[in-house]
Amino acid sequence: MSDPVQNNGKEPLASVVNLKAAYGDHVVLDDVSLDITEGEILVILGNSGCGKTTLLKHFIGLKQPSEGHVKLFGDDWWSLDEPEREAAIQKIGVLFQYGALLGSRTLAANVAVPLEQHTNLSDEVISRIVGLKLRQVGLQGSEKLLPSELSGGMRKRAGLARALALDPPLVFCDEPSAGLDPATTYLLDKLLLDLRTNLGLTLVIVTHETASIKRIADRIAFLDEGKLVFTGNLKEAMSSGIEPVEQFFHVAGAVT
Ligand SMILES: Nc1ncnc2c1ncn2[C@@H]1O[C@H](COP(=O)(O)OP(=O)(O)OP(=O)(O)O)[C@@H](O)[C@H]1O
Ligand SMILES: [Mg+2]
Repeated sequence: MSDPVQNNGKEPLASVVNLKAAYGDHVVLDDVSLDITEGEILVILGNSGCGKTTLLKHFIGLKQPSEGHVKLFGDDWWSLDEPEREAAIQKIGVLFQYGALLGSRTLAANVAVPLEQHTNLSDEVISRIVGLKLRQVGLQGSEKLLPSELSGGMRKRAGLARALALDPPLVFCDEPSAGLDPATTYLLDKLLLDLRTNLGLTLVIVTHETASIKRIADRIAFLDEGKLVFTGNLKEAMSSGIEPVEQFFHVAGAVT
């Protein structure tokens, strides 16, 4: 349920309410309730396989809950009709965990995909928007490169440009810094913070990187054994007294 104090009185942009998530008989998440507050960077943590990507898939309407509800901008995902669903999809951006770019298409063509799929804009307008999006992520001038010609950090930026193509107010990133070196991770975090400030984005980010958590997290949601065991800021997490949460930070390396 929404917590008006925690949310500064704002209605959440999205929520899962008493979510139970399963693949067949395998229950992954059980009775999870979590709000996403406008303007925040919410970081989702938990050990590998605990259900972070599964939770994101529910928020973005890719997977239907076994029980419970998923709300986006006040509406239940699963009571939307087709035009409403299409409109909802356009209001969220997603950088998938293994969000491969289309290898045979240039960077510009990759970023253009959501614009081609969801709008009737002319090629010329799409090309201008693509140029703007690439500039926003620091990839101006790279329009004609193929994904294989990009570094890991550039590929993540390109995925982000594609996620931002339709100007969504809410963006989900699943492990954006996986496989990146610390300096590239730092620059990507800085970009995410800049995008939040400049575009007023709300960001939900799955990451394992303690340095990133320290830099970007306004709030942490920690999953363990199917349950949401903690929500709060980093300082509260470190002194939560909740064993898996404290162990995560201990094992991952001290964050002070
Ligand atoms: N499509 C699927 N079909 C069946 N089981 C799945 C599927 N996707 C995920 N699972 C299972 O659900 C559980 C949670 O997976 P999920 O990918 O959500 O975890 P995660 O926390 O994102 O892990 P990681 O940190 O490794 O990315 C795992 O046990 C996984 O094997
Ligand atoms: Mg995952």
